Amino acid sequence: MGDKRVGILGLGAYLPQKVLTNFDLEKMVNTSDEWIRTRTGINSRHIAPPELATSDLAVFAAGIAIKNAGIKKEDIGLIIVATITPDMIMPSTSCIVQAKLDIKEAACYDINAACSGFIFAVSTASDYIKNNPSRYALVIGAEIISRFVDWQDRSTCVLFGDGAGACVLGMVREGGLLSTYMGSDGTFADLLKIPAGGSKLPTTHKTLDNKLGFLKMEGNEVFKIAVRAMVDSVNKALLKANLTEKNVDCVIPHQANLRIIEAVLKKLGFSKDRAFLNIDRCGNMSAASTPVALYEAVSTGKIKRGDIVVLVAFGGGLTWGALVLRW
Ligand code: ACO
Repeated sequence: MGDKRVGILGLGAYLPQKVLTNFDLEKMVNTSDEWIRTRTGINSRHIAPPELATSDLAVFAAGIAIKNAGIKKEDIGLIIVATITPDMIMPSTSCIVQAKLDIKEAACYDINAACSGFIFAVSTASDYIKNNPSRYALVIGAEIISRFVDWQDRSTCVLFGDGAGACVLGMVREGGLLSTYMGSDGTFADLLKIPAGGSKLPTTHKTLDNKLGFLKMEGNEVFKIAVRAMVDSVNKALLKANLTEKNVDCVIPHQANLRIIEAVLKKLGFSKDRAFLNIDRCGNMSAASTPVALYEAVSTGKIKRGDIVVLVAFGGGLTWGALVLRW
């Protein structure tokens, strides 16, 4: 394959039209715009309408990515959807996406790595492309978290938003993925979870009454580990790519909390203007956060051809990871 690498051929993103502001939330729970802004950096988030499922958001973003890549959809051999809010437990959301996009001969599965999902999915798909260099992979991060938060729990409902981001991966002659890094520690599984609805605690009247089908989070604990894990992920991915912090033109961090992002940038020695942020408008979209931010950074000209870009995330599992690529 000469100098060819796996790279991103096209990007797409979709945000539902409805915007929920902090002021709207003030009318729903005991919170304030001031608390949410100063503690998280979030002003508003997008919320999907009831008639749409996660696969619909995924399909909208994927359609744009395929168009931007300029490929034939028949040449897609792999579809991965990274999500913790699938249409249903079974089948995978990626199979539903495949049917909606009418892509015949692709292998489809979902990845559950919470907010790190897109990074894990790109990393996995990259190995597929290396083994199948004439094919393409469609990688999507898509979430409707608004269906899994307790809208009476102010400690979680103010943090999240809905959306989808997608990319088409294939062999490229210039640029491409320079390194990937993934990590997890399941001993922290209890810090961030949706307790009921699985085999351990199937849905019953009791789980519904106790709201165990909603996302629960120990925010403070996650915060501390998040900063360490993101800094470590970027350092490991840069080392694997034989680069240092000085080579990086743009950082796309997972958008969970502006204070986490600022702490990570500071520890890494990056000024804030080297990062692309959309947390103020989108909140935390879990697996959709990094691909939507990447799409926006490229389409607004923040990322230019030849730039070294780092994506970094952490999330439930706990999981964490980073990608280094030359755009
Ligand atoms: N409005 C007003 N007050 C609130 C709100 C709210 N929305 N939420 C919590 N409070 C109160 C608390 O009750 C607490 O009050 P008390 O002191 O009287 O008990 C006070 O504010 C401080 O609460 P803390 O939890 O200590 O606030 P903190 O500064 O830690 O911020 C937050 C909380 C924003 C959740 C932060 O811990 C955080 O961002 N953690 C990381 C979250 C994250 O990144 N998750 C991972 C990704 S998610 C995924 O993978 C799906």
